[in-house]
Amino acid sequence: MKPLAEITAEYLRDSGQFSLIAPMLIGKLGPKFLNPGPKSSLILTSGRVAERPVKGYTMGAHRAAGLYGMTRALALDLAPIRVNIVSPGATETEMWGDEAQRAARREMMKKLLLLGKAGTPEEVGEAYIYLMKDSNATGTVVHSDGGSLIQ
Ligand SMILES: NC(=O)c1ccc[n+]([C@@H]2O[C@H](COP(=O)([O-])OP(=O)(O)OC[C@H]3O[C@@H](n4cnc5c(N)ncnc54)[C@H](OP(=O)(O)O)[C@@H]3O)[C@@H](O)[C@H]2O)c1
Repeated sequence: MKPLAEITAEYLRDSGQFSLIAPMLIGKLGPKFLNPGPKSSLILTSGRVAERPVKGYTMGAHRAAGLYGMTRALALDLAPIRVNIVSPGATETEMWGDEAQRAARREMMKKLLLLGKAGTPEEVGEAYIYLMKDSNATGTVVHSDGGSLIQ
């Protein structure tokens, strides 16, 4: 994601494919492939910047917060299919770069984060499993963010 000073209308249109357009189309088309009841669900992914922005990351906050709203609206439109969203904090994935970049970032996160470490995909994955299993959860957010909202 580019900082505010570098974004253009064209960049916003192109980069929105993944974060806003694809989830909306999944909301449109997903029900065709799902059983029509609360055992079925869609789960989107946002991030802590939806609720606690980071300087220089306005574009990310816009996307992340928009996904929260889209989740709640889709939950109304698609019911009784459920729609929820997971909000991770810093999580060590391929997004962090190659092994050297990941090692450097891991060290930095040890000092910065409340739990002394970033999340792992396995930890964040538990949030998705919970939302798949709880057939009473819809239109809601599950955080797996290492306490970043209270730090
Ligand atoms: N990692 C974090 O710290 C963090 C924190 C908060 C929120 N998130 C959010 O969590 C989500 C997953 O992130 P991640 O950390 O797992 O990133 P990642 O390891 O880089 O994985 C991103 C995935 O998205 C796919 N992808 C990217 N652009 C695509 C496109 N245009 N069409 C189809 N697939 C596309 C990639 O496919 P390929 O493998 O084929 O490239 C890859 O499988 C993202 O929405 C991210 O914003 C991540």
